[in-house]
Amino acid sequence: MASAARKKVSSLSVERTTIEFVEQLKRQWIETIDAIPDPFIMVNDEYKITKANVAMAEIAEASVKDLVGQSCYRVFAGRSSPCENCQMIKAKPGKSTPGYEIFNSKNDRWYEVATRRLHSESGQKGTVQIYRDRTDAKNLQNRLAQNEKLASVGQLAGGFAHEINNPLGGILVFAQMLLKEMDSKSTHYQDVVEIEAAAKRCKTIVENLLDFSRQRPLNPKLVDCNVHDVITNAVKFANLGHNKDRRCEIKFKLNAEDHVLNSDPNRLTQIFLNLCSNAFQAMPKGGTLTVETINELVGKTNYLTTKIIDNGTGIKQEHLGKIFEPFFTTKEPGQGTGLGLSIVHGILQDLGGTIEVSKNKNRGTIFTIKFSGTLRKHGGANK
Ligand SMILES: Nc1ncnc2c1ncn2[C@@H]1O[C@H](COP(=O)(O)OP(=O)(O)O)[C@@H](O)[C@H]1O
Ligand SMILES: [Mg+2]
Repeated sequence: MASAARKKVSSLSVERTTIEFVEQLKRQWIETIDAIPDPFIMVNDEYKITKANVAMAEIAEASVKDLVGQSCYRVFAGRSSPCENCQMIKAKPGKSTPGYEIFNSKNDRWYEVATRRLHSESGQKGTVQIYRDRTDAKNLQNRLAQNEKLASVGQLAGGFAHEINNPLGGILVFAQMLLKEMDSKSTHYQDVVEIEAAAKRCKTIVENLLDFSRQRPLNPKLVDCNVHDVITNAVKFANLGHNKDRRCEIKFKLNAEDHVLNSDPNRLTQIFLNLCSNAFQAMPKGGTLTVETINELVGKTNYLTTKIIDNGTGIKQEHLGKIFEPFFTTKEPGQGTGLGLSIVHGILQDLGGTIEVSKNKNRGTIFTIKFSGTLRKHGGANK
């Protein structure tokens, strides 16, 4: 009896040790995949999730347990069918497929998906998919491409504006001379008034174009500008032009201590005037324009960060890459020339600032402008 019982006890304890060991391996495995910061899933050939990590659960706003059994395309991209360029079926055992990009409309971010089919000999079936967030790299790439494009369009536009400036000046001067000499009751008087008005409109466009292409002599004198004063004045002007019936509320949260910047006040005004005009135009039925400033320390650099926030119509995803291009406008003819943001972009390049656009959380748009350079407190010493 003693030997049989001893055998049973020892086999039981081996079993327990094995179970404990397997449990420990399982815990280690879960801890490992949860430590991966990129969303990770294992999917069977019916696109159903068999395992997921915490990063994926956070994106799906569900628990890891709830993801198991759900379709990967629904969980990740909110789609009702597999993603167009999904590589899952093409993946050969033990091999990775070329990565492909998908856009996640739930959090407005781009991901590169790496897919690898599992070895069936190991008893595991399906594929592993790792999603790497590529949004920041993609934005940088787009910005570089855009800068290049804008530089060549700028050259073209500058040349064109120069050529047109002289004959246009002639039309305007002769129209004004005619008007002086004509009897205002003459049948053609009104026609000449129209010619003068049209020529003036063209002149504004040409001036904007020259501004954009920066072929205008720049005012090289940089002075200490109180950016809070510049912003308040620009908002006041934009308000007069675009918010005449005061349907929009204006909130200032000017919290940057170091808000005196060595820069060009006229060009700074132009930046904020354009951005605030766009914001008011995006809120035809009313809304709130919020202007914020704050100092941000990145490494040893002190930045003056300004945000122009509206809760208007917002910008469509497919337009985001185009808004800084000259002549891109979604406005009715006469309402917009499509030059505002390209001018802002050009000025910021000259003055050493950056601009980024993002969606306001619930509705509308945020433009973020950052300046570094010589900043100081109002009435304080240079930093
Ligand atoms: N705050 C904003 N809200 C919504 N759309 C905007 C905003 N700012 C710019 N846009 C979009 O960017 C386009 C280009 O702007 P801009 O270069 O200033 O030219 P314009 O105002 O003459 O159209 C606008 O037509 C509009 O579609
Ligand atoms: Mg505009």
